[in-house]
Amino acid sequence: MPEKEESVNASGLRGRLRAARSVFVLTGAGVSAESGVPTFRGGGQTAVWKGMPFDVISSAGMVGRDLALVWEWFDYRRGVLQSCRPNPAHETIARWQTSFPQFTLATQNVDGLHTEAGSRGVLELHGNVWRARCLNCEGREDVREKDASVRPPVCRACGGLMRPDVVLFGEMLPEEVWVEAAERAATADVCFVVGTSAIVYPAAGLPAAAKRAGAFLVEVNPEETPLSNICDVTLRGAAGEVLPRLEF
Ligand code: OAD
Repeated sequence: MPEKEESVNASGLRGRLRAARSVFVLTGAGVSAESGVPTFRGGGQTAVWKGMPFDVISSAGMVGRDLALVWEWFDYRRGVLQSCRPNPAHETIARWQTSFPQFTLATQNVDGLHTEAGSRGVLELHGNVWRARCLNCEGREDVREKDASVRPPVCRACGGLMRPDVVLFGEMLPEEVWVEAAERAATADVCFVVGTSAIVYPAAGLPAAAKRAGAFLVEVNPEETPLSNICDVTLRGAAGEVLPRLEF
């Protein structure tokens, strides 16, 4: 029997999942790695762009300083995403939404691949690169419906300048989304944390909050993270291989 299969049995994870009334999943860039989306901290091609570290070009201050450059960066990232499709990890998580009385998926990813895989009501903690938001009236539009030659794009409703609808470094998370995620994490029987380095807060605090409230905590990641030592089970491997094999 493969080692992972043994650890799933020995840990009691299967039993926990069969009995679970509420399951909470937090994902990060690693869940999209097998779709070809570069991670932030794995030396991928989004770590540095035009000599700028991603946390500088993706910072709140850049919107005020050079909004056109922020758009150039996000246009570049959308270009990278254009050919990326959901992988078996996204598809498995999408199937899980009907396997439990209550199921919540919160993601730090801005790529939209969970929704493309069929997940509904995804709590997008860091926004979505395919959406633009008006700096004036907060109106939101699909970037794909805007003229790509006009940067920054202009709001259809009020004519204001638009920015990517993504949470940048130094910004708060969208409040409603955050409150719902925190509530669901705190009432979960089982919490999965998949493909995240778990160092960007407040999102990284959700699994620990779930655990404190009594959830059984499972990590899926080929590498150790700061959360590993509080997890009840750590499944070391690629999400696209580990998750589809997790039968319960
Ligand atoms: P990171 O790039 O920090 O971490 C990616 C994690 O995925 C690492 O722990 C890898 O070991 C793991 N990983 C790599 N390949 C994997 C695979 N095939 N299956 C499972 N895991 C794999 O990405 P995040 O933790 O998502 O914020 O980063 C958090 C936030 O930092 C992002 O949402 C972004 C960034 O700044 C914003 O854009 C606001």
